[in-house]
Amino acid sequence: MNRFTFQNTTRIHFGEGQIAAITKDIPADARVLVTYGGGSIKKNGVYDQVADALKDHTWAEFSGIEPNPKYDTLMKAVTMIQEEGYDYLLAVGGGSVVDGTKFIAAAAEFAGDPWDICQFGATIERALPLGCVLTLPATGSESNTGGVITRGTDKLPFGSELVRPIFAVLDPAVTLTLPERQVANGVIDAFVHIMEQYMTYPVNAKVQDRFAEGLLMTLMEEGPKALNDPKDLDVRANIMWAATLALNGLIGAGVPQDWATHMIGHELTALHGIDHARTLSIVFPAVLKFQRDSKKDKLLQFGERAFGITEGDDNTRIDQTIARIVDFFHEMGVPAALSEADLTADAIDPLVDNLKAHKMGKLGEHRAIGFDESRAILELAV
Ligand code: NZQ
Ligand code: ZN
Repeated sequence: MNRFTFQNTTRIHFGEGQIAAITKDIPADARVLVTYGGGSIKKNGVYDQVADALKDHTWAEFSGIEPNPKYDTLMKAVTMIQEEGYDYLLAVGGGSVVDGTKFIAAAAEFAGDPWDICQFGATIERALPLGCVLTLPATGSESNTGGVITRGTDKLPFGSELVRPIFAVLDPAVTLTLPERQVANGVIDAFVHIMEQYMTYPVNAKVQDRFAEGLLMTLMEEGPKALNDPKDLDVRANIMWAATLALNGLIGAGVPQDWATHMIGHELTALHGIDHARTLSIVFPAVLKFQRDSKKDKLLQFGERAFGITEGDDNTRIDQTIARIVDFFHEMGVPAALSEADLTADAIDPLVDNLKAHKMGKLGEHRAIGFDESRAILELAV
């Protein structure tokens, strides 16, 4: 196991009715800006629950944070904060709203051009405090330090301990109104987050491996159930907690991490508008195929522990393991190849150009995926 320091300070309020808990979490004298997306929270009662919890607070709202949150939209909130003087942010929505609000929190306090935070990795020295009410289990953004922001065809990550939410409400009941597509997206995003931290090479980190395998198997078990029986709250609860633990720092501590699938996937969203999770389901099988030698030990371990694959030589077992993962993606109704998202090999050159523009030339757990290797992965994904 590698050396690590682990701290996750986000207070989690899990379960039905927990939105009420935010009353005590936000200082009584705070001036709160509530941020949200396109309005789903107004249709499913979440907005009303938040308004009720904040009835004794001073607050205003900023709406319209879109999926794959856009820099220009977020900067409108920054202007509002500077003009009207808010000092606490409450994000109510999915990963896009939480990510966007993290960026707003940092940009409002940034002494320079806030886009530098994403473009050049400029250090965030200060940020407004923020909490969140999560409505879509997927990204892990509710208790981690990262975010991803889009400007034009640039979709870039940023991160800082200062934007980790102080608290996160995880009420599985609010996820019952998710469209089927978003349920599937959430399960797949969380699944690939775990894989990015697990499917590398062994460092004898038994706790992390078995936590990761437990989360992966939970998602493979519960994901299809959420599609087949969309009213089952227990299923939603297990998915929601799995998605948070998938990317809250726990399973990634002390182990190598990959993230090539994500970085290549971001370019697919930036250039083709494909949902984040669906870019991952397209790219990940190709990453496994391309790296079947360097990931061999973990592929064999996962195949045996998750699917009971023990027969045949290593190559056969690896083929079967990748096929089972692709089967799971298809069961969840997401594409597992570029062709399944109506793209051809013609898409590859511009994607590699974007990776070059974003200096994504050393990806993967060995930093061995350069631009040629990303091209080869995309060719395997056709
Ligand atoms: O905008 P509203 O009206 O709220 O509708 C949203 C949106 O259209 C809807 N929705 C959310 N909760 C709902 C609901 N509809 C009905 N009932 C509910 N309870 O779902 C749609 C998609 O929402 P979005 O927030 O975009 O989805 P997701 O949570 O998958 O977030 C994706 C974003 O997170 C980034 C992605 O790149 C993408 O921009 N990521 C953030 C990460 C992080 N911070 O650690 C890691 C991830 O890898 C990912 O990159
Ligand atoms: Zn993701």
